[in-house]
Amino acid sequence: MANNITYKEFSDEKNYTALASEVMSVRARGEVPLACIRTYGCQQNVADSEKIKGMLSDMGFGFTENAEDADFILFNTCAVREHAEDRVFGNVGALKNIKRKYPSVLIGLCGCMMEQKHVTERLYKSFPFVGLVFGTHSLHKFPELFYNSITSGKRIYETGVDDKTVYEGIPTRRDGTFKGWLPIMYGCNNFCTYCIVPHTRGRERSRKLEDVVSEAKEMIEAGYKDITLLGQNVNSYGKNLEEKVTFAQLLSEIDKIEGDYWIRFMTSHPKDCSKELIDVIARSKHVSSHLHLPFQSGNDRVLKAMNRSYNREKYLDIVNYAKEKIPDLSLTTDIIVGFPGETYEEFLDTVSLIKEVEFASLFTFIYSPREGTPAAKMPDPYTHEEKTKWFAELLKAQEPISAKHCAKMVGKIYRVLVDGKNDKEDLLTARTSGNIIVEFPGDESLIGQFANVKITESKNWILRGELV
Ligand code: SAH
Ligand code: SF4
Ligand code: F3S
Repeated sequence: MANNITYKEFSDEKNYTALASEVMSVRARGEVPLACIRTYGCQQNVADSEKIKGMLSDMGFGFTENAEDADFILFNTCAVREHAEDRVFGNVGALKNIKRKYPSVLIGLCGCMMEQKHVTERLYKSFPFVGLVFGTHSLHKFPELFYNSITSGKRIYETGVDDKTVYEGIPTRRDGTFKGWLPIMYGCNNFCTYCIVPHTRGRERSRKLEDVVSEAKEMIEAGYKDITLLGQNVNSYGKNLEEKVTFAQLLSEIDKIEGDYWIRFMTSHPKDCSKELIDVIARSKHVSSHLHLPFQSGNDRVLKAMNRSYNREKYLDIVNYAKEKIPDLSLTTDIIVGFPGETYEEFLDTVSLIKEVEFASLFTFIYSPREGTPAAKMPDPYTHEEKTKWFAELLKAQEPISAKHCAKMVGKIYRVLVDGKNDKEDLLTARTSGNIIVEFPGDESLIGQFANVKITESKNWILRGELV
């Protein structure tokens, strides 16, 4: 136990995995049971889905992209904005026909939306064909919940049970073979006033350093070349651990592992982003030159109302330090336009900040009220139309900045990781350490390998190059 966080090994006490496997071998429509898992939202959800797939694999499941073919359909949902929730409700509604056609199919929902009471109440009332619902805190109980729902004939709902525990050893079936996600912590303690995540994922819980480092080692030995460390605020890694350790220390421990690989991480919170961390990145052999540092708003009053705990000056201070220490640094950020009460003049401070920093690219969102968060109760006098106009203005201001970044890279040689193929143009696709996309002609056998590429042209924020 460390600061009220408990650490447990995943255990499938009554061996529900084996029991479910037996039932599914009879119930499956095809030769093996098939699951169709759809993931919405952030990488944290992608990583959770990889664990669910690991547990399903152990039950003998194969996987399909086509819901019509599946014996088990599961949507892993996101609650961060209204649009994400609407998509889920729409897509679940469409599953009704599949259930009618194949009554033995089990339809399930999990993830962040399921940790909101108003959502599960609506589901229970309006979507009776959904047989299994579980929240983010119940992931480790998946084999039991799944077994109960295929054998009881009842709807199984399990949500809202934050036991403040980190479960190690849940089987994982990763989607990629050379790019992979590695969660280092769960939950969030920041309570930004607009954000639902602390409500859906519970309090911050760091994994132990030795567990993270040994998983990183396993991944590198298995051939992973691009590993992203995940957490809602990786800079506060270690705060709940008994043995005091910082994120910067974790990064330098991982960096010591032998091999040819890149380490990335997300997301960094500016309030905890230390100069020590920047120094570690600058000194490291494997940490990529990409820093995703969401600032949300360029205006101090708005930042305060968002409860972000830093101001524009502190943000610029850390960004300028990072630019100075890390050559070829590629900076990206998240921005919210139209936070309740944000005026046009205040929004212009966001525009001036992106011009001052010159980010490689932006992730921009129009504010979306989330039930149960403080911001949802704040007066919000500006219309969606006005906010949409400001949003477009922001994107327009960024265009020449992104173009300038790409243009600066032309003529230089970069090390890239080849990650796929653009079939339409018959080109390989790859990413630089700064996460910029490069396309170039080459043999498919290079996919999953590092290569050196000379940039010859910049085309709409995608670079073109040639192998050297
Ligand atoms: N933990 C990360 C971000 C998690 S959510 C961080 O603090 O940076 C990803 C992004 O979604 C946020 O950075 C924010 O820009 C956006 N976001 C979160 N809640 C939102 C809301 N209610 N409306 C619009 N955008 C939101
Ligand atoms: Fe949400 Fe803020 Fe936590 Fe990020 S740091 S997950 S924006 S509450
Ligand atoms: Fe969405 Fe949950 Fe991630 S709300 S953004 S899936 S933590």
